Amino acid sequence: MSRFVYVNGRFLRRNAAFIDIEDRGFQFGDSVYEVIFVTKGHLVDEYGHINRLAFSLGELGINLPKSPATISLLIRELMRLNSLSDGFVYMQISRGVAPRDHLIPTGLSQTFVMSTRAVDLITKPSFNEGVDVITVRDIRWGRCDIKTTQLFANCLAKSEAVRAGAGEAWMIDENNMVTEGSSSNAWIVTDDHVLVTRPPTHEILNGITRRTIIDIARQNGVVFEERAFSLEETKKAQEAFFSSATSLATPVLSIDGVTIGNGVVGPITKTLQGQYLEYTQQTS
Ligand code: PDD
Repeated sequence: MSRFVYVNGRFLRRNAAFIDIEDRGFQFGDSVYEVIFVTKGHLVDEYGHINRLAFSLGELGINLPKSPATISLLIRELMRLNSLSDGFVYMQISRGVAPRDHLIPTGLSQTFVMSTRAVDLITKPSFNEGVDVITVRDIRWGRCDIKTTQLFANCLAKSEAVRAGAGEAWMIDENNMVTEGSSSNAWIVTDDHVLVTRPPTHEILNGITRRTIIDIARQNGVVFEERAFSLEETKKAQEAFFSSATSLATPVLSIDGVTIGNGVVGPITKTLQGQYLEYTQQTS
């Protein structure tokens, strides 16, 4: 956790920062968040994340507390205070503080907090060598496209994966189709070299990394299909990986114990990883 954090207009030392016990984010998960990848001091897809923050807030009927340009300045000031070069920025906005009530109150002043974490995501063994994945039932609510902090089902999924010695859990819907990872989007490469990921409906978060990888794939002539895919198809895939601001594009070596392809990082995954890293060094 960072030395300095941002809380409602002020930069404070981490141990001097507090929020109210009746914050609706704390009591109801009535809040949304974003995580932005930072590499060599560059914020990757900064405005993609800020725009999705505005989208998530809009879906919950909460106003963006500051303009996107002001949020960008605040992020940069926090990065400066924490000397952040490699890692990520975390932002969370809740509806605000009110006496506990299931009835959603209006007119609150939002709680806006930000922190940073220093970590070199590019050199992580999981990114370079891949991880095993297990599957769990998707037991989340019906608006997974909103990036709310209601993440307990995701936490259960990830914890089950780690208990099983895996690195991520992919969630499976009632039709045995893969929705997404506990904190990432899911991808496969089929036998005939087609890159596939699920369309961005209410069932998944439309990842910013996902959108960038789609653009990169298209620009580089990778055949791409946006469609749902089943657990059965995943087990027969040549390659698989998952994407997010913190996992980037992490290769999948096996799913539920079934080896994917040759059980090593596949060529299309490797190419996309390289192109994504190149892209991240260009944006700011
Ligand atoms: N999670 N799907 C889920 C459920 C996620 O939680 C995330 C990211 C993604 C990928 O989104 P993006 O590419 O915009 O990071 C997909 C963040 C990293 C987190 O919860 O820490």
